[in-house]
Amino acid sequence: MRIKYTISIVFFVALVIIEKENNIISRVSDKLTLKQTPQTPLQPSSFSHILLKHNGSVTSLKMDSAFTLMKRRLENYSEHQEVVTRGSKHILLLATTRTGSSFVGEFFNQQGDNMFYLFEPLWHVEKMLTLDTGGTNATASAKAYRDVLQQLLLCDFSLLESFIDPLPVNHITTALFRRESSSSLCEESVCSPFVKGVFERYHCRTRRCGPLNLTMASLSCIQKEHRAIKSVRVRQLETLRPLAEDPRLDVKFIQLVRDPRAVLASRMVAFAAKYKNWKEWAAGGDVPIDDDEVRKLKGNCDNIRMSAEIGLRRPQWLHGRYMLVRYEDIARFPMRKAAEMYRFAGIPFTPQVKSWILKNTQASKDKSGVYSTQKNSSEQVEKWRFSLPFKIAQVVQKVCGPTLKLFGYKFVSSEDMLTDKSVSLIEDKVFTIL
Ligand SMILES: *[C@@H]1O[C@H](CO)[C@@H](O)[C@H](O)[C@H]1NC(C)=O
Ligand SMILES: *[C@@H]1O[C@H](CO)[C@@H](O)[C@H](O)[C@H]1NC(C)=O
Ligand SMILES: *[C@@H]1O[C@H](CO)[C@@H](O)[C@H](O)[C@H]1NC(C)=O
Ligand SMILES: *[C@@H]1O[C@H](CO)[C@@H](O)[C@H](O)[C@H]1NC(C)=O
Ligand SMILES: *[C@@H]1O[C@H](CO)[C@@H](O)[C@H](O)[C@H]1NC(C)=O
Repeated sequence: MRIKYTISIVFFVALVIIEKENNIISRVSDKLTLKQTPQTPLQPSSFSHILLKHNGSVTSLKMDSAFTLMKRRLENYSEHQEVVTRGSKHILLLATTRTGSSFVGEFFNQQGDNMFYLFEPLWHVEKMLTLDTGGTNATASAKAYRDVLQQLLLCDFSLLESFIDPLPVNHITTALFRRESSSSLCEESVCSPFVKGVFERYHCRTRRCGPLNLTMASLSCIQKEHRAIKSVRVRQLETLRPLAEDPRLDVKFIQLVRDPRAVLASRMVAFAAKYKNWKEWAAGGDVPIDDDEVRKLKGNCDNIRMSAEIGLRRPQWLHGRYMLVRYEDIARFPMRKAAEMYRFAGIPFTPQVKSWILKNTQASKDKSGVYSTQKNSSEQVEKWRFSLPFKIAQVVQKVCGPTLKLFGYKFVSSEDMLTDKSVSLIEDKVFTIL
């Protein structure tokens, strides 16, 4: 009897201890796992096939002590509080190639000490998914893009890290795409010592830095009030809805668009190899309207239009979060449009941004001392009309018609109209910020 009693007490005590340990372990592991939102649990495991590419090695994701501490700080740090009390803003500049997005990205990159800016981080994700799956699964790409953007806006580089090739070692990489395009990644605090002869190609704006320590980047990001990311890879605005609904973020989407005829003309020059079919069609013969290239053009136009239609329809989740900007308006009125974007974002327009724009828009004082960028830019904006053959313009009008209409780009009905400088193809159109 007595023995039995003792055994049950021992058993009970042991249970309590086990229970306690489980609690501690689960609390500790909660802290160390990736930050999750109720709407969109981040599941790096769904990308495990990608990690396998690195010979099954996930060494980089091992926590060194600095990384662990940084993760804890991210956990601890109440982004929601930050959004409310500091008025932190999270800007996503969404565009497609040849729409002036690098230029517009600079409006935010030049903001100053308050802004953490990243240039095309999704480049790594697209590259890895293309290698891995042929890049054909748009659903999987959209999900990866969304999750990486969400983490980056929260200053967490872990998921992006798993897409960088070669995989960073101890969270250090020399392979980050266009690091020097982000002034935030070239600041003193993110610049580890440069070792001559080892990483010669690391010229980081005005200083020479060693490889990028992603823990340092993350710590620097946390210090900044606002964050901005530019990307030409998101296809549908709607896929980013969970970001708009994340209480830790105050996201502002800026969609940048351009006349699809001008975009095609520009891509035929910039990406000559990829656009060689178009070049052949331009040189002679008919454009096969059911060709894959033509279908791709239509698909791109439809994605851009559908994103804008959602934005302009202003569903509840996008209230105050969506702005549509035309390349042509930026080119003609850069200062005015930059000021509008800052007003929309709710961030003060700094003198640094103003002077950068003045310096980079060939502004010159005319005889009356007034800055004028407008006349010259207008000419630049319509230059494509003299390089794109009328029949190609017709094809674009045919497959991208609704897109042209929505954004206020006039159709041309003849070769003469296309090349008549006295006719502008840009309707004045105001897209109310809602
Ligand atoms: C993977 O392993 C193979 C064979 O062990 C090796 O040749 C290759 O370089 C490794 N690749 C990477 C990315 O480590
Ligand atoms: C990266 O930066 C962190 C924070 O400054 C530092 O503690 C860590 O040692 C660095 N990592 C390496 C491998 O130098
Ligand atoms: C987490 O927050 C608490 C209370 O604000 C603070 O005392 C602690 O130092 C923080 N821990 C880290 C790792 O930042
Ligand atoms: C595409 O990705 C989604 C989401 O990861 C998956 O459910 C689906 O099976 C994939 N489709 C194909 C054709 O691989
Ligand atoms: C417009 O600017 C370009 C430089 O980008 C210059 O070559 C050209 O002469 C300018 N045109 C006018 C009309 O000022």
